Amino acid sequence: MDELVSEGDRFGFWRFARHAFFTEINRWLVQQVASLGPRVVDLACGPGAITELILATVKERSRLLIYAVDPSLTELDRARRRIASGLVRFIQGGAENLSRLVPQADVVIFCNAIHLVADKSRALAEIRKVLGPGGTLAFNTTYFKGCYVPGTERFWRYWALRAAQYLRDRGISVLRAPKTPAMRWFSPEEYGALAASSGFVGAVWQLHEATLSPQSLEDIGQFSMFIQGALPGVPLECGAEALRHSVRVAMADANLTGGVPRYWLQFIAQAPV
Ligand SMILES: C[S@@+](CC[C@H](N)C(=O)[O-])C[C@H]1O[C@@H](n2cnc3c(N)ncnc32)[C@H](O)[C@@H]1O
Repeated sequence: MDELVSEGDRFGFWRFARHAFFTEINRWLVQQVASLGPRVVDLACGPGAITELILATVKERSRLLIYAVDPSLTELDRARRRIASGLVRFIQGGAENLSRLVPQADVVIFCNAIHLVADKSRALAEIRKVLGPGGTLAFNTTYFKGCYVPGTERFWRYWALRAAQYLRDRGISVLRAPKTPAMRWFSPEEYGALAASSGFVGAVWQLHEATLSPQSLEDIGQFSMFIQGALPGVPLECGAEALRHSVRVAMADANLTGGVPRYWLQFIAQAPV
């Protein structure tokens, strides 16, 4: 997958998405829900890793139709090149407008993106509109209140500090911007309350722990949205270089060897029957 990286792709999510631990986290969620009905939405499909998991999981293919939705044309383009299946429709757009993009569905799978959506209430209302009676929403995220495994919080702080220091040493300034609304983190309980107020029932969630290897951290540090969140206002190329350079320095600062464990929130809820 490395060979042909276009300019837009340079800062895409695909580098991180190919790590095995990430696949396993997502596979668990996909396996819980993907076979619950034939019309499945892969919301925020990105480069298509989840679409592939859905295709691999669902055995009954005769009526299967997957709507893979993402606002980024670059990500959709990579997903299209990766997945040659007549069972998938690729659609450009965001969670906030989902009901105008896809027909009624049985399942909406929304992996690793809900934290990026500023208006989560609107997104959940749109997902609720799209789901038929008894339909299922499944999402996951590792950006939520409670995501840090005890003893690892300082790694994330040091990483951003070391990267900012690396840039300042080279004359590049980093904005001290407040967190954007899109980056405000919810607790699992807050997500539960939001799902209930959006008309979902039977919400259940679990925390799953995964260890991010140094290579996977370098790879997430090449993703445009991560760079913009960690180093506001910094050109992507410089930010990516600073983050790559600082991973192992920050791990040493935080006395972590081997990798950095972190929790993922796995969340499932239903539309009422
Ligand atoms: C971290 S990637 C996750 C990709 C894929 N779901 C996965 O888990 O491998 C986040 C994706 O969310 C998309 N995204 C950002 N804002 C969004 C929104 N408001 N609605 C839907 N998708 C959004 C981005 O374009 C990006 O492709």
